[in-house]
Amino acid sequence: MRYLSGIQPTGRLHLGNYFGMIRPAVEMQAQGEAYYFLADYHALTGATEPGQLPARVEETFLDLLACGVDPTKAVVFRQSAVPEVHELAWYLSTVTPMGLLERCHSYKDKVARGLAASHGLFAYPVLMAADILMYDADRVPVGQDQKQHLEVARDIAGKFNEKYGQVFKLPESIIREDAGVVPGVDGQKMSKSYHNTLEIFAEEKELRKKIMGIKTDSTSVEAPKIVEGSTLWGLVRLMGTDGERAEYRKKMEKGGTGYGDLKKNLADLVLKEFAGMRKRRAELAADPAQLARWMAQGAEKARATSYQVITRVRSAVGTKS
Ligand code: TRP
Repeated sequence: MRYLSGIQPTGRLHLGNYFGMIRPAVEMQAQGEAYYFLADYHALTGATEPGQLPARVEETFLDLLACGVDPTKAVVFRQSAVPEVHELAWYLSTVTPMGLLERCHSYKDKVARGLAASHGLFAYPVLMAADILMYDADRVPVGQDQKQHLEVARDIAGKFNEKYGQVFKLPESIIREDAGVVPGVDGQKMSKSYHNTLEIFAEEKELRKKIMGIKTDSTSVEAPKIVEGSTLWGLVRLMGTDGERAEYRKKMEKGGTGYGDLKKNLADLVLKEFAGMRKRRAELAADPAQLARWMAQGAEKARATSYQVITRVRSAVGTKS
């Protein structure tokens, strides 16, 4: 079983990224072969300023490793280590119906939010299909927001196979149902584009301040608080031990604890949950040469696998390199 997933190196890692993609990725590297990459080509469709990309890639690499992705078990690499992914994206684009891409919510949402309607943004799902098919992935763990892109990848693989024979496996998505609902500080889904994120590796002071700023209702200190559907509980349920969660829940239900104290309590839980990773990140950051070696190893393994696939594809379509 081969798992593959990608993350855009577009900024500091937040709780939504962690529970949506990174924690499942860490679990899966123990279950089968795992390929995880930093989607630096994809990041160019967003708000990455010229010059920022190399640092962003390094930061995200460090974040992944600090969270438990193991570069000696999984193949961890940057997308641009294998530029042939664009060659594959081109072949795929020749069998991709325009209508398929025109129906993609992500494109429409991003344009509605003010991103330039570039061809890159429009063709994003084709490059994503190439990412997946390039490594013969069986399963692709992603958040709910990427579900449609996975369907597009399967459709494209099917179209290609119809025309050229059984070249690609059809990848299956693994959607974490609970991952889509990590709430941000304003109660909406946690997302960089909503500016409501809690960053795992932020300074303690900054993290506490953001947690103290979580929007709550006007229930008095004495009164019981609404648990289900609340932002505080939406975060607490992801942290700590069963006992800690039960205790927190009781405090909310019983009344007598104000939101200020509840938030402080949540901040303690968050810091405790990620303390080990925060420490590990600092240790890893102190050895950039080792990081560079791991990155190079990942690239080498990714190239070995992709070479086999692109050779198969070239032979099917009739091109040569
Ligand atoms: N589009 C994904 C995201 O923004 C990142 C990504 C790029 C990806 N290529 C991929 C995820 C291939 C899974 C498989 O989250």
